[in-house]
Amino acid sequence: MDFILVILSYFIGNISFAYLLVKWKTKKDIRNFGSGNAGTTNVLRVLGKKYAVLVLLGDVFKGVAAILLAKAFASNEITVVLSGLAVIAGHNWPAFMGFRGGKGIATSIGVFMMYDPMAALICIGIGVGLIALTRYVSLGSITGVALLPFIIYFLRGVGLPLAFALVISVFSVYRHRGNIKRLLQGNENKLGQKKPIE
Ligand code: G3P
Repeated sequence: MDFILVILSYFIGNISFAYLLVKWKTKKDIRNFGSGNAGTTNVLRVLGKKYAVLVLLGDVFKGVAAILLAKAFASNEITVVLSGLAVIAGHNWPAFMGFRGGKGIATSIGVFMMYDPMAALICIGIGVGLIALTRYVSLGSITGVALLPFIIYFLRGVGLPLAFALVISVFSVYRHRGNIKRLLQGNENKLGQKKPIE
């Protein structure tokens, strides 16, 4: 059962709301537009607020669903952690989409809201604050997720939750390496810059 939960979580992660909504609305592949990412920020850029909110909710819900399922049916906490990692991996590297998906922030939020809401809320607060200050969604996302292991260490010390947070952090920072390069070069996209699909 535990193994099935982890595999199921990976395939829940494969459901890309960004890809599906943009495909349905424009017949185009979001990965060929804007930043090329199948995620909320890029949908905001190419389609606008209404669709971005739907993608955000859908991607957060995937993380929530995977952890709720694991908490209900797994026989141990390791399976809960592996299911959380699997849903994020499924979102970032979806088999159904040639392993080119999103960057995992919204799904990680869903996962950690169900796993450790206090840590999740602190990271979200810092991330959203930075986005509001700088208008760089990527900078807020990277900083929030990079701080997660430190916050977990502070709240819970060394253990499985810390390992969980560390892997999530590495996944997300790795997926943002293009953004990091653009931030350093000073040509990262700012919140509000639109690149509509023609
Ligand atoms: O979570 C994704 C966000 O941090 C950056 O998105 O499209 O600007 O690469 P994007």
